[in-house]
Amino acid sequence: MTRSRPDEPEQRPGLAERAFAAAYDPLTALAERRVLGRVRRRLITPLSGRVVEIGAGTGANLAYYGSHVDLTVCEPALPMRRRLERAVSDRPATTVSSAPAEDLPVADATVDALVCTLVLCTVSEPHRALAEARRALRPGGVLVLLEHVRGRPGLHARVQDLVAPVWRTLACGCRPNQDTAALLEDAGFAWVDRDRHDLPVPVVSPLVAGLLIPR
Ligand SMILES: C[S@@+](CC[C@H](N)C(=O)[O-])C[C@H]1O[C@@H](n2cnc3c(N)ncnc32)[C@H](O)[C@@H]1O
Repeated sequence: MTRSRPDEPEQRPGLAERAFAAAYDPLTALAERRVLGRVRRRLITPLSGRVVEIGAGTGANLAYYGSHVDLTVCEPALPMRRRLERAVSDRPATTVSSAPAEDLPVADATVDALVCTLVLCTVSEPHRALAEARRALRPGGVLVLLEHVRGRPGLHARVQDLVAPVWRTLACGCRPNQDTAALLEDAGFAWVDRDRHDLPVPVVSPLVAGLLIPR
């Protein structure tokens, strides 16, 4: 395992960031068992070639990558990245980077698959992150996506709007009411394979999962 950008000065993480990283795996364990693990397996297992994962967190997808994949996992938050570094320590051909999704450490059109799971809700500039994904993907490359999206118009979406400020504070910036489907459309991505799933936590449900390509 190597780490890129080792010389960047790193700010001391705040309490909320450290608590979120420590609580992430225990808090998501039930959803992983019921829904997320199965969706991650379906999305990640078939990948090959050069793969870049953004906002990789504690490394929830790592178990599903084949050992032949040339993998770069990016995670800007230090408490998450420490966990990620431990999780990849015995995995071959894996680079850990502190790069944010808006500024990836890759040349244009060099990536076979860009993996984004439960990240666009938290990235501060999702339009820039998606533009960066387009830049990085080679012709024929895919955006591999698993995200919670805004509920249908009506009570569900209104409740998401209502709880969004509190949720955002508790979940390190996560926007439960973000219209991620519209963001993907605006960024010029088209679905080639898409599933919808419900999570046991309605505020971050439903989920969309699948593959997209630049139009
Ligand atoms: C809800 S967690 C998801 C972690 C992991 N992808 C998963 O599927 O479990 C969101 C992650 O996005 C990261 N993140 C926040 N802002 C980001 C940015 N600008 N670029 C990349 N990742 C970011 C957070 O640090 C956090 O690790």
